[in-house]
Amino acid sequence: PYPVWRRMRDEAPLYYNEKYDFYALSRFEDVEPCLSDWNTYRSGRGSILELIKANIELPSGIILFEDPPIHDIHRSLLARVFTPRKMNALEPKIREFCARSLDPLVGTERFDFIRDLGAQMPMRTIGFLLGIPESDQEAIRDRLDEGLQLREGEELSVSAEDFNSDEFGAYIDWRAEHPSDDLMTELLNAEFEDETGTVRKLHREEVLTYVTMLAGAGNETTTRLIGWTGKILAENPDQRRELVADRSLIPNAIEELLRFEAPSPVQARHVARDVEHHGHTVPEGSIMVLLNGSANRDERRFADPDRFDVHRDVGRHLSFGYGIHHCLGAALARLEGRVALDEVLNRFPTWEIDWDNAVQARTSTVRGWETMPAFVR
Ligand code: HEM
Repeated sequence: PYPVWRRMRDEAPLYYNEKYDFYALSRFEDVEPCLSDWNTYRSGRGSILELIKANIELPSGIILFEDPPIHDIHRSLLARVFTPRKMNALEPKIREFCARSLDPLVGTERFDFIRDLGAQMPMRTIGFLLGIPESDQEAIRDRLDEGLQLREGEELSVSAEDFNSDEFGAYIDWRAEHPSDDLMTELLNAEFEDETGTVRKLHREEVLTYVTMLAGAGNETTTRLIGWTGKILAENPDQRRELVADRSLIPNAIEELLRFEAPSPVQARHVARDVEHHGHTVPEGSIMVLLNGSANRDERRFADPDRFDVHRDVGRHLSFGYGIHHCLGAALARLEGRVALDEVLNRFPTWEIDWDNAVQARTSTVRGWETMPAFVR
């Protein structure tokens, strides 16, 4: 399991990649403090390796790719509308979306954790929150995912256009005229103090950026979590049996799943000053890749880290990042993961993966499966 990460942790805790000219840290004790030191490890040029290299101007409002003070202004505005309370109130809706995906499959032989559930429920949930009509959700998801896809033998290229999509523009204009009780309406009406000290509402372009970012950040990762859930529990049937019998284990099982297979295992940063790691200097201007997925498997932090254990006292894992960029949607992602697992177990207490037809997803930043088909009986 992840021998390269293990070798890095053991033999090259500060690793330098000559070909692509970046450094990487892989131990928990290194990754965590760097994630919290935003002043040194900056996100303002993007937090994806290819994006930092592309060196393009990014639109204002993508908090993932911003540093303080602007990050904090935008984040607190978003946090105002994106509250844990509001997320938790979504549970019945999430159950309904799961039921809609799963009920038609009861009695059949096969079920795909990604196609039949992971690619549907998170999109419906974020679409519902934002107020995007269901009839348009799928086309939008495909368009957003397309931007992240790597084709065989191709390197990822990113351009400013990828972040200027006007996909949601029509809804924003329509919502501005027809307010509702969704997030888009709240964002259109929210007043805040901007970086010049002016109290104002968001511009149309800013709302557009927020909505595109939320739809992008909220879909792909949660889809992959659901795929991993299918795989890992198929490989651990005893633990699955325990979960079927005792659903109170589900929250911890989801934490352990997140630790074990981080859907977003790599965070890149731009280094703002010379720093020392393991006896070497990393010069200002370098790119530092923080391997939170490897940190989650660090034997210096977690006992027997390559063992999946629903009873593990997980403590803190780094799958949602750490520090000021800690995932804004973590409460929602956890809820979606828990409900999805519960609803799967309600209908399919056992399954086996159809490995001949399981396909890995190839994206720059997200790790997981494109399909995770299972035989259910
Ligand atoms: C940030 C992971 C689901 C919205 C992050 C970061 C990680 C992450 C690692 C930090 C990135 C960095 O430090 O550069 C995940 C995982 C998810 C998930 C593994 C699912 C299993 C969601 C959902 C939403 C969301 C459902 C919202 C709908 C965001 C946003 C940020 C973020 C807006 C940026 C926060 C900031 O920069 O201040 N996520 N995420 N995520 N996530 Fe998530």
